[in-house]
Amino acid sequence: MRIGIFDSGIGGISTLLACLRHLPDAHYLFYGDSAHAPYGDKSPAQVRQWTEEAYAWFISAGVDAVVLACNTATSAAVAPLRERADVPIIGIEPAIRKALTDHPQGGILLLATSITVSGGKLRDLLDRLENGQERVRPLACSGLAEIIETQDTDWRARARHYLQLRVQPARTADIGVVVLGCTHYCWINDLINDTLGGDIAVVDGNDGVARQLCRRLGVVPIGTDTAPPLPRHARISLHFTADNGVKSRLARQLLAASGVSVDTQPDLPHARACSDPGSAGR
Ligand code: DGL
Repeated sequence: MRIGIFDSGIGGISTLLACLRHLPDAHYLFYGDSAHAPYGDKSPAQVRQWTEEAYAWFISAGVDAVVLACNTATSAAVAPLRERADVPIIGIEPAIRKALTDHPQGGILLLATSITVSGGKLRDLLDRLENGQERVRPLACSGLAEIIETQDTDWRARARHYLQLRVQPARTADIGVVVLGCTHYCWINDLINDTLGGDIAVVDGNDGVARQLCRRLGVVPIGTDTAPPLPRHARISLHFTADNGVKSRLARQLLAASGVSVDTQPDLPHARACSDPGSAGR
């Protein structure tokens, strides 16, 4: 079984990890659109076009399902894409429903990109959920995904500084939970906890996406509440649209930090040439 995972960059690796817990034997094709990242401050029309290009790449590589491991791309593109999709498309959206259910009192701080915060998809979701508009406080974190994506020597210090400056002031006394509405933010879970106070719960939508992927593929998800363990080896083909070598190495390091080593895969059939020719699919 082949599964396509798509993001602008390394945020989607956190979603890939969640999928690996439930479907450890699948062959994953990861597509990171580093040539156009970050997506959050671009126009929804541009993000839609790049998501469609990624989808076409996945189809040419013969996937059985595509996961949009990017809240921004889901917000901008999932609806038009699904209208003419040949395989199931699973989008990620902020885990607000879970936050509202698990924390029946108080405010919910939602951190996401500008496109996600201003998009109609979020507005509709908040309208649909009981007390959604009243309890959820969306905060656009422009530039934060960019800091995380660099993974350079001082990126964590810069992310901490960003959180202190921009996010900390938005934490009012009644807020007990933070929803991560961008997959990149999953890599700073601990910093968010630290900056906003250890008593705050932090939730993301990755496990929900992995379970939905299972359902769409006719596989029963493992367990109900607890996440199954990660496999030690995984079949993953990494493809980034710019700096493929550097980005793929980074992705492998992030996976290794979670105890997952990437088994070498043969080159993908029909994989389209990218900005770093010859490196696609490895
Ligand atoms: N990781 C993405 C998301 O979940 C996009 C971040 C970006 O490129 O701005 O929204």
